[in-house]
Amino acid sequence: MQAETSTGVLNPIDALAPIAREHGALTIVDAVSSFGGQPLDVGGWAIDACYSCTQKCLGAPSGLSPVVFSSRALERRVKCRSFYFDLQLLDDFWLKRKYHHTMSSTLVYALYEALAIVEEEGLESRWARHERNHHALVTGLAELGLSMLPPHGERLWTLNAVRVPDGIDEAAVRRHLLDEYNIEIGAGLGPLTGKIWRVGLMGASSSPRLVLLLLEALKSALSPARAGPYVRA
Ligand SMILES: Cc1ncc(COP(=O)(O)O)c(C=O)c1O
Repeated sequence: MQAETSTGVLNPIDALAPIAREHGALTIVDAVSSFGGQPLDVGGWAIDACYSCTQKCLGAPSGLSPVVFSSRALERRVKCRSFYFDLQLLDDFWLKRKYHHTMSSTLVYALYEALAIVEEEGLESRWARHERNHHALVTGLAELGLSMLPPHGERLWTLNAVRVPDGIDEAAVRRHLLDEYNIEIGAGLGPLTGKIWRVGLMGASSSPRLVLLLLEALKSALSPARAGPYVRA
């Protein structure tokens, strides 16, 4: 997984995938929370299979999953028992126009438009924007006394995992953000429940305006005058 949505950690696929290749192993990379927001070089990093989604950093509706395979991976194909995931049938569908399933044409048009927007912005400029807004958020959070879960250098730009300060009712803070500011941030999952907030800055939501709004909203939720309801008894 390149981008761990549950912890906000960026895994160094550029370093890991070539090691797997040296040892004859195939790699499969989940780029669901990174594609379009963080550098990803499927060919240059020797990734064998990579899939993502449309609804995160591309900013299109959900429902499609871009996927790509290396020639090495295709050579090692085995007989597929699933009709829907049979690559040969999907290849024939795309390349030879042989019927396989009926796609949602509206989703394809939406993805086409989202990719045109990415192209207009430029992929590298888009990555740089995600990086800039991530750093702006981290700096603003530090001014509020808040810190990030992953160490410096291992943080995603797209999914920001923020430590919940001791004694704060994190769910009440999220409710305040939603009710008062129309901002939804994620809760911690599994062992991180109650310990982190997860802030997505993906696609159009990676903007200075939204970073500033969130910082202001958090400041108001955590200010001593307002914090009453959010401090655990
Ligand atoms: C890293 C990662 N992989 C996979 C998924 C599942 O994606 P979907 O909800 O599009 O099935 C998610 C969802 O957030 C994710 O963050």
